[in-house]
Amino acid sequence: MITQIVYYSISETEMNNVSISEILEPSRINNAKKGITGCLLYHNRVFLQLLEGEKETITDLYKIIQKDVRHSNVTLIIEESIDKRMYPGWSMAFHEFKNNSSNLDKFAQSIDFFSKNIPKKSEAIDLFWRMAKQIVN
Ligand SMILES: Cc1cc2nc3c(=O)[nH]c(=O)nc-3n(C[C@H](O)[C@H](O)[C@H](O)COP(=O)(O)O)c2cc1C
Repeated sequence: MITQIVYYSISETEMNNVSISEILEPSRINNAKKGITGCLLYHNRVFLQLLEGEKETITDLYKIIQKDVRHSNVTLIIEESIDKRMYPGWSMAFHEFKNNSSNLDKFAQSIDFFSKNIPKKSEAIDLFWRMAKQIVN
């Protein structure tokens, strides 16, 4: 079984390309080593992240992430067990959506497409994209 979690948080400062890549680059290396996949979105100081992997690995990473001083108010929205991971190709997909949800839809479609067209979405994924739309609007 694979555990999926979704959380949101508030960044301490307005992120730019440099501060984002300081999170993303080590994350992608760590996640690839630990068999963690997922997706991170950023908009207007809000982070929304979906993580999937072995339960213990995800719990451990979430504890580390919660302590990260670059953000606060880290809030778990959902934790779910699923048969197999949904974003196997993404050690951490990233999208910063600037001001409208149309590019978000495109991004969602392309990550689904490259994930071999997810046949049946989990509640966590559904919630993740619904939250993303809320945040952007
Ligand atoms: C919004 C946000 C998302 C993060 N996502 C991940 C992640 O997916 N994987 C990861 O290893 N670290 C992630 N981090 C970074 C961790 O909090 C921590 O800095 C990092 O795992 C420490 O790695 P190190 O022990 O290799 O230095 C994230 C941090 C923030 C603020």
